[in-house]
Amino acid sequence: MIHPQYRPRRMRHDEFSRRLMRENTLTSNDLIWPVFVHELDGRTPVASMPGVDRMSIDELLREAEQALELGVPVIDLFPVIDPSRKSLDAAEAWNPDGLAQRAVRALKQRFPELGVMTDVALDPYTTHGQDGIIDDTGYVLNDITVDALVKQSVSHAEAGVDIISPSDMMDGRIGAIRTALDDARHINARIMAYSAKYASAFYGPFRDAVGSSGNLGKADKKTYQMDPANSDEAMREIALDLDEGADMVMVKPGMPYLDIVRRVKTEFGVPTFAYHVSGEYAMLKAAAANGWLDERKCVLETMIGFKRAGADGVLTYYAPQIARWLKEA
Ligand code: PBG
Repeated sequence: MIHPQYRPRRMRHDEFSRRLMRENTLTSNDLIWPVFVHELDGRTPVASMPGVDRMSIDELLREAEQALELGVPVIDLFPVIDPSRKSLDAAEAWNPDGLAQRAVRALKQRFPELGVMTDVALDPYTTHGQDGIIDDTGYVLNDITVDALVKQSVSHAEAGVDIISPSDMMDGRIGAIRTALDDARHINARIMAYSAKYASAFYGPFRDAVGSSGNLGKADKKTYQMDPANSDEAMREIALDLDEGADMVMVKPGMPYLDIVRRVKTEFGVPTFAYHVSGEYAMLKAAAANGWLDERKCVLETMIGFKRAGADGVLTYYAPQIARWLKEA
């Protein structure tokens, strides 16, 4: 009989030594919860995201209180705008009394200690569902879009938001937003840049939730979001956003892009986040609903995968559920 000199299984023999050598942990501190807020009363379910509802501001306040109790540090707001308020120039995006701005004010007033983050991009506000302002060929124009994003960001900061999160992928927007925030004395408004955001098919359910998929039709976002085949390009995007003043960077989607998360963390060593997007959520929900996967185990394994890859935190629709599971454990 051959006795191996080194037996990795020895350390796996008992729970105490498995715990002792565990390299990564997941806590509620790692979670950012994206939520959909609408202008109607009450809640409406998002069909392709079971368990996720669009909520009125009142409902949101109820949920926010629970999230706070569960230790979720940040809520990320996504407004669902009435079609009558959508336009070609997306002017509703910087309406000081717009839905996002009202939601920010309500949350910060009730729960000052809860971090509030907003998405900055024009897609909830445009009649065509693109993240920016288009020319007559449908091409998204960079620099006038950046001007609009600056107005949107400043209006969120005036409403009291803690973190601005540009998800539009326009060139130069982080620097322009940082300068405008500083000029308006919002020096502590943080920026989490969607730096490496890919033109992904996994955003489908999100577009249903905010009602941009119908407007977008067969169009895509490939002239601004990145090609899923690229990795070096992501490093250039990260470098640019950091240089322009991003406090945190994000990789999106999540699971299919863990190599990017690892590269960002290793090469830059900055606060790095991953977005476990709507399509990833929908896949887990669908498999769980069919009894094909153990939802709790698969979700927690997914989250520790993000941590192992180097993420400091994860944006996930599962955030309050995960926090609840962690509390029970
Ligand atoms: C919009 C935006 C999208 C998501 C976050 N912000 C959709 C898109 O780029 O089309 C996707 C989030 C998700 O799928 O969960 N700029």
